[in-house]
Order: sequence, then C-alpha cells, then structure tokens
Amino acid sequence: MKRCIYPGSFDPITLGHMDVVERATNLFDEVILVVSSNTSKTNAFSIEERTRLLETIYQDNPQVRVIAWDGLTVACAKAFDAPTIIRGLRIVSDFEYEFQMNLANKVLDPQVETIFLMTKTENAYISSSMVREVHRLGGDVSAFVDPRVITFLEQKKTV
Ligand code: COA
Repeated sequence: MKRCIYPGSFDPITLGHMDVVERATNLFDEVILVVSSNTSKTNAFSIEERTRLLETIYQDNPQVRVIAWDGLTVACAKAFDAPTIIRGLRIVSDFEYEFQMNLANKVLDPQVETIFLMTKTENAYISSSMVREVHRLGGDVSAFVDPRVITFLEQKKTV
C-alpha cells in the first residue's frame, strides 16, 4: 500500500489544505493527516480540537486517516510506515521555510522524501490566520473554508 503523511498545524484546515489532500489521495492509497505543532507559532485551537475537526471532515473518506502527533514529523513517517511527506507550496514566500524544513528532515531521516504539491491559484492567498482574523471580525469565510469549519468557528465563538 502506498501511504504518505501530510503534516500541518491545520489551525484551522482551509480549502487550500483540502485541495492538497484531494490531490494526494489521487497519488497515494492512504493519506495520513498529521495534526502537529509548529513551535514558531501559537496555535489558536488545541491539537484535540484541530484533530476532531479533521476527523469530522474526512469521516466518510476511507483513504484519509487523521492522527495527532507531538513529535518529529520524520518519526511519525517511520512509525506509520509512510516514507513520503506531502506539503503544499503556495507563493514564493513558502519556499524558504519549506526548503529549510525539508533539508532538516533529510538529515534527520534520509529515507523520508518530501513531495510538494503546488497550491491552486485560487487558493494561493488563503491562510489559516487570515481565516481566523476575518471570522473574528465578523467577515464571511465561506470562500476559504469548508462549511463544517464555519460551524466549528461559530461554536468556538460561543464557548
Ligand atoms: N493552500 C493555502 N494555504 C495553505 C496551504 C495551501 N495548500 N498549505 C498551507 N497553507 C497555509 C496554512 O493555512 C497556514 O497558514 P498560517 O501561516 O496563517 O498558519 C500555513 O500555510 C502553514 O500551515 P500548515 O501547513 O497547516 O502547517 P505548518 O506549516 O504550521 O506546519 C509542521 C509545520 C507542523 C509540519 C512542522 O512545524 C513540523 O513538522 N513540526 C513537527 C516537529 C518537527 O518535526 N520539527 C522539525 C521540522 S524541520
């Protein structure tokens, strides 16, 4: 079975991420969404909340599995026998960060390869922080996220 991991903060998941997931399922038998943490960012939602949201969204897709992971991404790839990391690549600004992360991962585990999928033009400007800000300020985020993410954001607002 061809299996890959797609790690990210998914804080929250956007249509940009979902496009990458869909395209990854065309390339692999199983795509494991790894809800992780980027230590240079403060997450808005807990790892449990982000994981539950992804589980809800992909509950009917047998090709997608969701896990929470608090550790090195390359260790996750090894633990789940998924030697390929998928990452989405947006505009030029993503490149430097992704390049650095890829080089570090290669040193940590040379067996693990990273494949970058170019984000669709219409998603190139979307980011999780933008979604959070627009929603917080009362704007409509339906062009950026799945309706289930809007429900989640609404619930979080009322808590
Ligand atoms: N289209 C649109 N937007 C996209 C996108 C796409 N295809 N792919 C990502 N984005 C956006 C996200 O919305 C997010 O926006 P934000 O900056 O406003 O938060 C940003 O790009 C990147 O987020 P995402 O891909 O969800 O996660 P990340 O870059 O924060 O994830 C980890 C980084 C978790 C994969 C990385 O830190 C990691 O591997 N951590 C584990 C520990 C480890 O192994 N460290 C060593 C690595 S060298």
